[in-house]
Amino acid sequence: MGSLKQLIFLALILLLCPQRSQARTLGAVDQTMRQRYEQWMARYGRVYGSDLEKEKRFQIFKENAIRIDDFSQANEKPFKLALNKFADLTNEEFKSTYNRYKEHICSPQESFKYENITTVPSTMDWRKKGAVTPIKNQQQCGEYKVSELLPNCSRTLIDRVQNFAGCCWAFSAVAAVEGIHQISTGKLVSLSEQELVDCDIHGVDQGCQGGWMDSAFQFVKSHGLTTEASYPYKGVDGKCNIKEEANAAVHITGYQDVPANSETSLLKAAANQPVSVAIDAGDFNFQFYSSGVFTGPCGTELDHGVAVVGYGTDTDGTKYWLVKNSWGAEWGEQGYIRMQRDVSAKEGLCGIAMKASYPTA
Ligand SMILES: *[C@@H]1O[C@H](CO)[C@@H](O)[C@H](O)[C@H]1NC(C)=O
Ligand SMILES: *[C@@H]1O[C@H](CO)[C@@H](O)[C@H](O)[C@H]1NC(C)=O
Repeated sequence: MGSLKQLIFLALILLLCPQRSQARTLGAVDQTMRQRYEQWMARYGRVYGSDLEKEKRFQIFKENAIRIDDFSQANEKPFKLALNKFADLTNEEFKSTYNRYKEHICSPQESFKYENITTVPSTMDWRKKGAVTPIKNQQQCGEYKVSELLPNCSRTLIDRVQNFAGCCWAFSAVAAVEGIHQISTGKLVSLSEQELVDCDIHGVDQGCQGGWMDSAFQFVKSHGLTTEASYPYKGVDGKCNIKEEANAAVHITGYQDVPANSETSLLKAAANQPVSVAIDAGDFNFQFYSSGVFTGPCGTELDHGVAVVGYGTDTDGTKYWLVKNSWGAEWGEQGYIRMQRDVSAKEGLCGIAMKASYPTA
């Protein structure tokens, strides 16, 4: 009847198939991963100096991809992760680029002018009020010079690593200055981070009284700030262009610190203008944040400067801060991240309420 042959054949298939298909699957997974890697490299224009480096970066990419896939499958958080331009960096490398943010002893600033405010709108989006310029990008320079980082804010090093935190303080401060300028004059003008990077040397070298953003505000208070158009962002080491430095388009009268560790105070300020904040952006989930309300986990080792440009409540009731980042529009929600607001820790999520400040018109 041939049925015995068939049976043996079937049994053989049953015996062999699991192994064979598993082997095929594993190979396929690796191949798919390599395809993803190639696609990712093409998308982000990534080129490596050697095959060795490419392979090393592939292993990191793979580990990140697997961890992100697991995160997505678990589906336990109200936010999503994605393989973005940081996909070939370990979290350690990503984090180590930030650790030059130093706490500085600040002399007390003027009083907090919003302290007696009793009512604020339930939601705010300064983009809709025309007070926020398009997302900017700290760009590429020195992306792989991680090992050259030193734990202080020497300018040459900042210039080399500005793809990450190097210039974040400038972008954070500029976003807040652009905001208050639009609110007080009705004109939205994109302003120059490069001028701060090139010319605000004293503040940084002298220890940035009150932190980098406050140092930037101090610079703008004494020099004004020119436009992005006339002093564009280069993302490389630059000598201060004294002619453009003298060509200020915007002035501020000063700056104030939001009382530390109070999300209520931060809310009062953010209801009235975009606010510069320092956060701990070193977590894996932050590195690969893609969308939704970010709930952490994250620490409070402040290492990144961003701007709160609004706040609101998600459909599921989670309150959030609307935060403008400077890693390009491809990161997060078109360059923004919504971070959970009114958390139990007084520092706020990722320390967002620890070191907030804003310029005054
Ligand atoms: C807030 O109110 C208190 C008490 O009336 C007052 O002393 C303080 O100056 C006010 N602060 C501001 C910034 O207006
Ligand atoms: C920065 O670090 C370098 C190397 O550790 C050191 O030589 C230099 O003095 C430091 N600069 C400051 C301002 O601390």
